[in-house]
Amino acid sequence: MTTTTVGKRVQDFLSTPQQLFINNDYVPAKSGKTFTTLNPATGEVLATVAEGDAEDIDIAVQAARKAFSDGPWATMSPSDRGRIMWKIGDLISEHLEEFAELETLDNGKPLSVALAADVPLAAELFRYMAGWATKIEGNTIGLSVPFLPDAQFHAYTLREPIGVVGQIIPWNFPLLMAAWKLGPALATGNTVVLKPAEQTPLAALFLAEIMAQAGLPPGVVNVVNGLGETAGAALASHPGVDKIAFTGSTEVGRLIAKGATGNLKKVSLELGGKSPNIVFADADIDAAVAGSAQAIFFNQGQCCVAGSRLYVEDDIFDEVVAGVAEIAKSMKIGDGLDSRTDLGPLVSDEQLRRVSGFVDSGREQGAEIVTGGHRDGDRGYFFQPTVISHTRPDMKVVEEEIFGPVVVVAAFKDLADAARLANDSPYGLGSGIWTKDISKAHKLAKQIRAGTVYVNCYNVFDAAMPFGGYKESGWGREMGHQALDSYTEVKSVCVRL
Ligand code: NAI
Ligand code: MG
Repeated sequence: MTTTTVGKRVQDFLSTPQQLFINNDYVPAKSGKTFTTLNPATGEVLATVAEGDAEDIDIAVQAARKAFSDGPWATMSPSDRGRIMWKIGDLISEHLEEFAELETLDNGKPLSVALAADVPLAAELFRYMAGWATKIEGNTIGLSVPFLPDAQFHAYTLREPIGVVGQIIPWNFPLLMAAWKLGPALATGNTVVLKPAEQTPLAALFLAEIMAQAGLPPGVVNVVNGLGETAGAALASHPGVDKIAFTGSTEVGRLIAKGATGNLKKVSLELGGKSPNIVFADADIDAAVAGSAQAIFFNQGQCCVAGSRLYVEDDIFDEVVAGVAEIAKSMKIGDGLDSRTDLGPLVSDEQLRRVSGFVDSGREQGAEIVTGGHRDGDRGYFFQPTVISHTRPDMKVVEEEIFGPVVVVAAFKDLADAARLANDSPYGLGSGIWTKDISKAHKLAKQIRAGTVYVNCYNVFDAAMPFGGYKESGWGREMGHQALDSYTEVKSVCVRL
């Protein structure tokens, strides 16, 4: 038996029409509308979900406002807040298999990946952020006010929650993106309206139930599923929302920033990427080849930090490209529930068409498809792992985020050349360097304009390590203690003694 049979708990969850989660209650959308979410491995309907819009967002914002201002959350001790968050982490771990099955069914990713990465990372994020709840501190400040030379002061800062936070997340890591967003918001005492992606609405609803079970009071986290243009846009522009946090495309990121101008709400954005992955001739070639394949093919390439521009030093170019192509050819494409699967489907028909369109444009512009380049099968949304060579810097496949299992390769001469190529992009999210020369690695790490530089590894994520983008890859950081800064206001209190 190589295919996992989905457990009863998940089967029941899928056969129950899913609603919105407001005030720890399951409620239908005011409009009565619903939408369906599909299993991308088959294209078949997986579940029916309430479709919220502006009216539901408004109700959820009011619930979050009430919970922020006068619910038990507002007066709860940091220790108790941390305890609930730790419990959420533990409950996620207890429900590991159920969460993993839901992620595989809704997003398509291999179950082995969801079990080893998505779900444990989400649990760990809550536990890491639980620890911060008791460690949100201000400073005391010695003043030297020049126009009051004889006065004495006691001045200090308080770090306070921003208030009601809107969070809009994508479909590539449905549970983990919810965790990245909720963790720092809750640790710092905010309340939340979360809008999951319409392609993957299920994990956040399953999580909502677990959060209530862990003791999160009503209204602290509300989940409103719905479309981006309706529910998402309403949340971004809502005058009762104090901060909006978004992960997704750079295009929508710009809309979010515009939508936020009405009440000048705080904004944090984690956007697209076209991350360079650089292999020097002095690298451990086997490790670099395997790592470069993983850098792009992990999660079907639907990873904002994916190493999608592979640059290889002249001398070893052919060897490395052949190695990555070999791995691409050997990958088993299939349903994520099949334990032999290395590469699942893309999330949707729309993404399949988008990725195919990019590869076609590369072909038309004269690039060489070393391997892959086509849809796999005619059921579900599978796309072959693809390596593209003989590109020019002005080709669409080189300039734009493809968000699929497609890597473009090019050669470089030396460190200066590698740095120039790496930075030749409006994005600045991730990057990779493969070399045994530590001096070269650190020199280049300083020169790359990106939020993360991986050296001799790729796609390593940890709740303690900040993540986010330079340039058009975003505003602010997620994870690490840096994430807390974007969920708190600083208040200066100045006392004349
Ligand atoms: P998207 O940016 O449209 O969707 C992400 C989230 O934003 C979803 O929850 C969606 O409902 C919401 N949204 C969409 N339009 C909105 C609006 N006008 N106002 C408020 N919220 C809105 O991404 P999409 O269309 O799913 O994928 C398109 C491309 O975006 C991908 O091919 C990929 O290049 C990029 N992307 C990047 C991600 C990342 O992690 N950086 C994640 C998902 C997509
Ligand atoms: Mg979209």
